[in-house]
Amino acid sequence: MSKFAVEKVLSVHHWNDTLFSFKTTRDPGLKFENGQFVMIGLEVDGRPLARAYSIASANYEEHLEFFSIKVPDGPLTSRLQHLKVGDDLLVSRKPTGTLVLSDLKPGKNLYYFSTGTGLAPFMSLIQDPEAYEKFDKVILFHGVRTVSELAYADFIQNELPNNEFFGEEVRNKLIYYPTVTREPFRNQGRLTDLIESGKLFSDIGLPPLNPETDRAMLCGSPAMLEDTCKLLDARGFQVSRRIGEAGDYVIERAFVEK
Ligand code: A2P
Repeated sequence: MSKFAVEKVLSVHHWNDTLFSFKTTRDPGLKFENGQFVMIGLEVDGRPLARAYSIASANYEEHLEFFSIKVPDGPLTSRLQHLKVGDDLLVSRKPTGTLVLSDLKPGKNLYYFSTGTGLAPFMSLIQDPEAYEKFDKVILFHGVRTVSELAYADFIQNELPNNEFFGEEVRNKLIYYPTVTREPFRNQGRLTDLIESGKLFSDIGLPPLNPETDRAMLCGSPAMLEDTCKLLDARGFQVSRRIGEAGDYVIERAFVEK
């Protein structure tokens, strides 16, 4: 059997000039945990050209969804951004990744810290009822440069709270905190600055980060991960060093060089 299944593009949505997302069919044999990634790509000159992409849809859905940047000279995204309904997409058959709920120790508050397309795995995880069963509060932080990069904001604020199965849990437990760094917006500033100043916590009405009660998942650029890990480590948080080892927090690089 080939390493890749061939799926069909079902829809494409362009958020702005630099970001888009798309849905595809899903092989019924593909099993994954919310927060994991697969390799996706296109056949170029008779060979697969593929990169790692977090799955943005939940694991109980019939389709798959992906969220991507458009890099003008990126080997894959320069092609992928022209995807049309009905096109073929290669999807690897072995999902993997570190952003899984099972690798977090029990806690009270669960922080999903993302910047840019690092939001993708959390779009899957905020649709996972298990997170709401295990935690009192789930905080989705999304940091971007411009307001137009706040993809999925309408879905998170207006659709998810009305989900027929777990909408009530979302209304009671999910706190969405979008922030913008290079334009005016109701929340401004970088994740690291908002943690250090404490503004994030006073804005959402929770105490500052505490390894006794809080757990975190991180997905963003290498610089964002490095700086945020330092802040967490300094506060006594222990990272999960490998898949299967429970920690206070887990990290995944947003796969941006595409
Ligand atoms: P800034 O505009 O101040 O660079 P990018 O698109 O470069 O991945 O950035 C996405 C968001 O992450 C931006 O708001 C950016 O802020 C912020 N960011 C970039 N580097 C870091 C970092 N080291 N720590 C925290 N946030 C960061």
